[in-house]
Amino acid sequence: MSNVAEHFHLLLTLPTELIIGVLTELDVLSLVKCKSVCRQLHDIIAETASFTYEIELAIAEQDDGTNCSLSVMEKLELLRNSQARWAELKWSSQRRYHMQDAGLWELFGNVLAQNTAGGSFAFVQLPSESRKIPERKWMVKPDTPRLVRDFGMDPSQDLLVLIELPQWSAGRMDRPHRIYMRSMSTATKHPLTTGSGLIEHSFYDPNTSYSIKISLDVLAIFFHATNDPSVNEFVIWEWKTGHKKLHLVGDEFGSFCLLSERHVLLSLISESPDGYDQAELLVVDFEQEDYHKKSIVNITHGFKLSLPAFHSSILLRSFAISSDPSPSWAPQSDLEAPFHVSQDAKIFVASIWVQKDALRHLILLIPQNTLLRHKNLLGPISNESTLAWEAWGPQGSRMTEKFTRNPSFEVWACHVYGTRFILSECSARSNQTFTLQVFDFNQRALRKAISQGQRISEIDVLDMDSLECNSSVCVTAPSVFPAGDIFREEVKTTLPYRWVSEPMPSIHPASSPMCAEDSIIVVDHFREDRGYYHVFTF
Ligand SMILES: *[C@@H]1O[C@H](CO)[C@@H](O)[C@H](O)[C@H]1NC(C)=O
Ligand SMILES: *[C@@H]1O[C@H](CO)[C@@H](O)[C@H](O)[C@H]1NC(C)=O
Ligand SMILES: *[C@@H]1O[C@H](CO)[C@@H](O)[C@H](O)[C@H]1NC(C)=O
Ligand SMILES: *[C@@H]1O[C@H](CO)[C@@H](O)[C@H](O)[C@H]1NC(C)=O
Ligand SMILES: *[C@@H]1O[C@H](CO)[C@@H](O)[C@H](O)[C@H]1NC(C)=O
Ligand SMILES: *[C@@H]1O[C@H](CO)[C@@H](O)[C@H](O)[C@H]1NC(C)=O
Repeated sequence: MSNVAEHFHLLLTLPTELIIGVLTELDVLSLVKCKSVCRQLHDIIAETASFTYEIELAIAEQDDGTNCSLSVMEKLELLRNSQARWAELKWSSQRRYHMQDAGLWELFGNVLAQNTAGGSFAFVQLPSESRKIPERKWMVKPDTPRLVRDFGMDPSQDLLVLIELPQWSAGRMDRPHRIYMRSMSTATKHPLTTGSGLIEHSFYDPNTSYSIKISLDVLAIFFHATNDPSVNEFVIWEWKTGHKKLHLVGDEFGSFCLLSERHVLLSLISESPDGYDQAELLVVDFEQEDYHKKSIVNITHGFKLSLPAFHSSILLRSFAISSDPSPSWAPQSDLEAPFHVSQDAKIFVASIWVQKDALRHLILLIPQNTLLRHKNLLGPISNESTLAWEAWGPQGSRMTEKFTRNPSFEVWACHVYGTRFILSECSARSNQTFTLQVFDFNQRALRKAISQGQRISEIDVLDMDSLECNSSVCVTAPSVFPAGDIFREEVKTTLPYRWVSEPMPSIHPASSPMCAEDSIIVVDHFREDRGYYHVFTF
């Protein structure tokens, strides 16, 4: 310790510019530590905008932009403004977009995309006041495929992935699925594909539905078979070359999220050794698997995490996970974004429907680091490599039963962005008014808010009788499920969160909210004329 003190003593004899030069070499954690060493260092750090910006970026779980011409002072001001506005749910403008009739839509990378009845794609780059990103609208019409069954996109790579409507006769598809790599700006073959820009996949359920995710070179598609659930397939390709990296088949897995550049997370429903429904999460290191078609039992680099055991009277109806944006996502550099959500700051949302007498809806929120912390368990899937709920869940997650359930929860599925989770409520405790609620699981910002005196709630917000509290609160109280109701044992989760709500009397009560980086999107499809996406921009 005396050695360290001596170093600081020496450091402080240097001219300020040199001290700043030395501090510039430090990572943000060391900077924060130095700040508390002595008054002089504290002042130097606090008065140097680039240090303050670096520290506040880390607290906000944001990464600095790579192509932004604004000064550090300007970026710092934008960052503070954006954080403050989200903390109070005070957006700065509002606009709306018509819903197209054709029915396919996608919200990813802050672009809202819809297909039109005429076979075009209409894109809107959602604007941002707080990051100075302008709105941009454009439309493209691909020549092939002529009929699109579903699509995915990644604006940061100008990539549009189109799945052709399967051709079939007499109840059977007559050829494999065709998946096209197109450019979002031109709808022609993507320039970075090395081959034909077409991937074929032999999967012959004509009524398939799809989930499509892209992260850098990875294209992951879940093929949900509607006819015969035992033939669900999950495939990861390298989209530029068309090479397959992972190919799973089975009826246990129901949804997936990309968890990191090499890990994928799958939700599993299976039967426990004593014959009851059980829910598990599976992490797979797909870089270490091969492309051969296999079932989950044959995975060589994976591990499972158990959810708590259900009570014997419970039937597990569905278990699906989601997260946004994808692991390595960063905004396209020509947007000149000053900063963007950090790649390490994500929560995963599990939506669990169970049946006791009535259907009940549970939500489980899990930060990325809770899942990746245990990657030392990667190996062949076996009972031994399954992590028990008690070892990861109670402190590392938050599980709650939604106060009012929205039947469209799974339809308008973009509830999460980075560490924020959004939910609406229209119930007795919100006076039958559509009320937005944002739950933020950014732990650094939460600790800062608490240290600055923000109110700490003694009860979980979802247990409150009334939502009249219109200021932000920090919830550190546990969420508790009593033993013998949904779960066999008592289930208590304690991951803290910040909560803020806002009544919106002009919104139709059954509307659904979605979350993007700088916007809240409320989907209102209950009008007589046509539906709207109402976009509230920060
Ligand atoms: C598949 O979808 C078609 C068209 O929607 C429908 O007519 C058919 O009954 C479905 N087949 C099965 C087996 O669900
Ligand atoms: C592993 O699980 C299976 C079924 O879930 C069970 O039959 C088997 O006994 C378990 N093996 C061990 C070593 O616990
Ligand atoms: C799993 O691996 C075993 C042994 O290699 C093999 O016999 C079996 O067919 C595989 N099962 C699946 C579904 O891939
Ligand atoms: C940075 O943004 C400008 C303005 O949009 C753009 O012209 C330029 O190509 C971008 N630079 C890089 C390296 O992408
Ligand atoms: C709901 O209405 C009651 C009575 O009018 C009022 O006291 C309460 O503040 C209202 N709550 C909200 C959330 O508006
Ligand atoms: C809550 O809302 C009421 C009425 O809308 C307002 O007077 C009050 O200042 C608000 N409180 C906070 C903490 O924002």
